[in-house]
Amino acid sequence: MGNPRAKNDHHPILSFVNRESQDLRPNPKLIGDLKAKESMAQLHSHPEVNRLLSLMWRKDTDTYNHSHRVADWAQWVGGQLGLDSQERVELYLCALLHDVGKLMTPVEVLKKPGALTNAEFAVMKMHSSDSGDVVKRITDLAHLERPIRGHHERVDGRGYPDQLSANQIHIFSRIILVCDTFDAMTSDRVYRKGLSKERAFEELERFSGSQFDPDAAQAFIKAHQEMDAGRAIFLEDDKEPKVA
Ligand SMILES: [Fe+2]
Repeated sequence: MGNPRAKNDHHPILSFVNRESQDLRPNPKLIGDLKAKESMAQLHSHPEVNRLLSLMWRKDTDTYNHSHRVADWAQWVGGQLGLDSQERVELYLCALLHDVGKLMTPVEVLKKPGALTNAEFAVMKMHSSDSGDVVKRITDLAHLERPIRGHHERVDGRGYPDQLSANQIHIFSRIILVCDTFDAMTSDRVYRKGLSKERAFEELERFSGSQFDPDAAQAFIKAHQEMDAGRAIFLEDDKEPKVA
């Protein structure tokens, strides 16, 4: 099998070192907030976070990489919505661990190369409460249970696992859902090609107010469009974003 780390630069032990030289995810330099960035780096050396990410990487590299993309986008959207540095670090961590409950999902369901049956989907849906249960057992992460558990709740109350609605859903959960769904929509699957970014934006808008928090969806779209237009967004001292 060889050294698996050599095949994947996203291995958690190497991840932050390599993040600076990789062009696979949004550039962390876009977040001009050194304090938050340093704290996020420290998260990767947290023994329990590192252990969970290692397990995730070993079980399903796609979920591992997905979680990193979602985490980068989430804290970026959080900045757009006025969250402060500490909140963005916690949001980043929630997003990084939002799917950690998939460690308990049977591989044949998790990696099924096709649409899930209803029964399989019911098993898959257990991952959000399982993710909450995992972090709840870790003393200094226990307070993140609620936002992690709620990352599949919808603002219209038709999500899971608790059918919460609107402001009952933690703001972190609402942000993560937008980033999570965008990544799922734009990623290729064995059985279908991913949507273009533009089509995915349309879907975020279409389901804004039913599935998605409208503010989170708009912040996500706006930030992407600014970047695509070649105008990098810098956040300084948690003030209004400045367009360079
Ligand atoms: Fe999920």
